[in-house]
Amino acid sequence: MRRSTLAALALCTTFGFSSSILAAGDAEQRTAESRAVIKAFAGELKTALKGAMKSGGPLEAIAVCNETAPAIATRHGDAKDWDVGRTSLKIRNPGSAPDVWETSVLQSFEQRKAGGEDVKTMDYGEFVELDGKKVFRYMKAIPTGEVCLNCHGGDNVKPEVEAKLAELYPDDKARGYSIGDIRGAFTIVQPAE
Ligand code: HEC
Repeated sequence: MRRSTLAALALCTTFGFSSSILAAGDAEQRTAESRAVIKAFAGELKTALKGAMKSGGPLEAIAVCNETAPAIATRHGDAKDWDVGRTSLKIRNPGSAPDVWETSVLQSFEQRKAGGEDVKTMDYGEFVELDGKKVFRYMKAIPTGEVCLNCHGGDNVKPEVEAKLAELYPDDKARGYSIGDIRGAFTIVQPAE
């Protein structure tokens, strides 16, 4: 038994597989850590949004998305020395615009959804080079739920909410969503060297 394991290891090394196996293990761990951070981030965001919607309605809840969401993202990122944020193919905040890698992952999410995959568990991560440095990048799709339609829907958006959004985001593209659509994705960059 042990001998065969050794033989297998020797084979792997000979063919240069061992480093890719190690990298795969590392990617798995980084993916697991990313999922945990996003779970915490999304949970906090949901609680803050629900609370604000209950106490002040969508008009006041805009502040949660406007100020609280980026603040929560930064706090979770800083704790790990990662970049944590949100992005989308149709953005509201121009500061959250996707880069080339994020755009291609978001497009692949749309294809995976069209292929019948569940948006709730859809994610993707890989090692890439960013600005000359090795990093691990990870994204997790964000499904559109009913509450989101108050501010990202079509006709569901109240006139006063629409006016406030237009004032804050004159170039807003994040409208016209339906339940189940991919609203965007959480996005993480982990330094990897
Ligand atoms: C009360 C209004 C409101 C509700 C409800 C709301 N959002 Fe937003 N959303 C915003 C605002 C405002 C921004 C821009 C935040 C910023 O400036 O970074 C935003 C931004 C986003 C972004 C970042 C990408 C972008 O377009 O700038 C995502 C992703 C997002 N919302 C998803 C959701 C999801 C999913 C829900 C439902 C669970 C939801 N939102 C509910 C107002 C809302």
